[in-house]
Parts: sequence; C-alpha cells; structure tokens
Amino acid sequence: MKILKTSNSRIDSTDFSNLPFGRIFSDHILICRYKNGSWGESEIRPYGPIDMMPGTQVLHYGQSVFEGMKAFKNSDDEVLLFRKEDSFRRINKSAERLYIPQIPKDIFIEGLESLIALDSDWCKKDEEYSLYIRPFVFASGECIKASASDEYTFMIITSPTTRYYPSDINVVVEQHYTRASKGGVGYTKAAGNYAASFYPTKLANAKGFTQVIWTDSVDHKYIEESGTMNIWIRINDTLITPDLSDTILGGFTRDSLITLARDNGIKVEERKILVNEVIEAHSNGILKEVFGTGTAVTVAPIKSITVGDQKIEIESQINSYASKLKKDLQGIQNGSIKDVYGWTTKVNSVMSSQ
Ligand SMILES: Cc1ncc(COP(=O)(O)O)c(C=O)c1O
Repeated sequence: MKILKTSNSRIDSTDFSNLPFGRIFSDHILICRYKNGSWGESEIRPYGPIDMMPGTQVLHYGQSVFEGMKAFKNSDDEVLLFRKEDSFRRINKSAERLYIPQIPKDIFIEGLESLIALDSDWCKKDEEYSLYIRPFVFASGECIKASASDEYTFMIITSPTTRYYPSDINVVVEQHYTRASKGGVGYTKAAGNYAASFYPTKLANAKGFTQVIWTDSVDHKYIEESGTMNIWIRINDTLITPDLSDTILGGFTRDSLITLARDNGIKVEERKILVNEVIEAHSNGILKEVFGTGTAVTVAPIKSITVGDQKIEIESQINSYASKLKKDLQGIQNGSIKDVYGWTTKVNSVMSSQ
C-alpha cells in the first residue's frame, strides 16, 4: 500500500466542540481502483478532490454502494473499531446486488485499519465522540450507455462526530411514498435508496416531522424502518422489531441490540408490525417505548408518531429499555464494558509507512 501523508493537517484548526454531522473530514482517504477485471494497489493520501470525467457512470446511473461504521477511543487511548467484519460483509452484499465487483478482504480491512491508525487523533476519547467511517464504491468507468461499468473506485473517508439528532424525534408514518419494494435494493446500502428518500423526508420536515416511518410498499400497513434507522416498538415488556427482508437494511446496531436485550432477559420478537398494532397498543396504554437504532444515532428514542391526523405521544419511561441498551452498547463500543461478543477490535497505532 502506498501512503502519502499530509504535510498540512487540519486537526488543530478543527473545532471539536462544534461538529455538524458528516461535514468535517479527517486528513486522509483510502483509494483503490478496479480496472481490467482486477483491483489495483491501495493508496492512502491526503483528503482532497478526485478526478472525474462528466461521463463517469456513477453520475448517470447511480451504481454505487456505501457503508457506515464507527471507531471509538477507549480510556487507554486505543482505537476500537465496531463490527468491521460485518461492514466488510455488508458492503459486498450490497455490491453484489448492484453488480459491482466484490472488494477483497485485505483491501477493505487492511485499508481501513491503516487509515484509522493514521488518523487516530481525529477519534476523540470523550464520551459522545466517535469517528464515523464511510467506505464506498462506485462505477468510475466513462460511458453514457445505461450499463454496468467495467471500472470501479473503492474509497474510505472518515469524519469525527458527536451526537446525530440534537433534539426530540417526532416521526410521521409515510402512507404514499416508498423506500423499498419487494425484489428491490432496500436491503442494500445503495446510494439511490437515500436519494429517493430525500423528497418524502423533506415534505415531512416541512410539516415539522424529524423523519418518516417507512411502511411496506404494497399497502403501507406494516412498519419497516424510521428514516435511516431500524425501528423498535416496546409493547408491555416485549421489544418488537420488523424481521429482515429485502426491503429492510440489516443494521448492526439492530443486531447488537437484539443480542444485548436477550442477554438482559428482555423478550425480543422479530416480526411484522402493523401500524394499527402500534395505535392500539397506545390506546390500551401498553405502548411503552418506540426507538430507532443505527450507527450514527446508536439508539434514539422517538417521542411521537403521527398517523394521518392522529398523533401518538410516547411518555418517557423510568426503566427505559432504550436507555439501558444504549448504555450497554456504548460501553462496549468505547471499551468501558467488556466486549464478550467479539464486536470490537483494536487498531494498532503503530503502522508502517512507505
Ligand atoms: C436504511 C437504514 N436502515 C437502518 C440503518 C441502521 O444500520 P446500522 O445499525 O448498521 O447503522 C441504516 C444505517 O446504516 C440505514 O441506512
């Protein structure tokens, strides 16, 4: 791997007390190109513009997938990567569906670790800080015939971050637009999934909602996800989250929470949830919590759900499962709680440079 370090780090001029999510980038990137049927040598270089011709295929056909994962610093100043192997598997699952060549494990994992080791100072130790990591791969061939590219570029960029949602989350159940349909790409992190979600989300924002709750594309009866989070409903003492399908992104936070909840003796059901079931549970006084999970937010309580003209307010709970599970998960992520699940891996701070 070629490594070209920046001679002009931006870290001292970065205001870590004010980090708008996803807008500040660390000093370096990883880049690796696919051409003539194989991946080339990876390179780490300073964050900066990349060359792209106007006919580059990703700009026309959106053939691109990405990942989102995080690194945390423990009290010994070591960087911990959370569920890197899962991220590696998921990007290739997404890539397969978008007809993008598989990224070899050494390119992904070694590239990731070298990049994080080099920019480890961007990952702060204090609580609520983490380093958001964005691996992505896109069609970088030049052709405006609607076709899969024969050239691709894989990159990793990173962004120091604090909390994602600064305020209460009030969501509205989407009854017209659809995020994902059967046989489609909803289970992948295809760039286009997000592009297609912006318009309905903006409409909801204009009405004062933070996010939409996506429902099934057939008749909008079943709850699927909330914005870019997996969704959880607590009815009495049972946590329910939609079971995975080709319309739902299999989140690592979701997967981790299922394990943590069960290990805490909390009953978890992965199954379809009717919007009506939530409304009924609320009117029967047994809807205890609603929350979303995702890498960016970890666990985010939802304060209200609006369905048509009806607004359901969710009272905060003294023994909140969301708070308990969030604390446990964050503890594992930042190393203050022993990770018995093997979800975290240390990044060696010593790296060879060439
Ligand atoms: C559509 C969607 N659902 C759920 C999630 C949560 O997944 P994870 O917990 O792996 O971040 C994300 C974020 O990546 C997402 O984009």
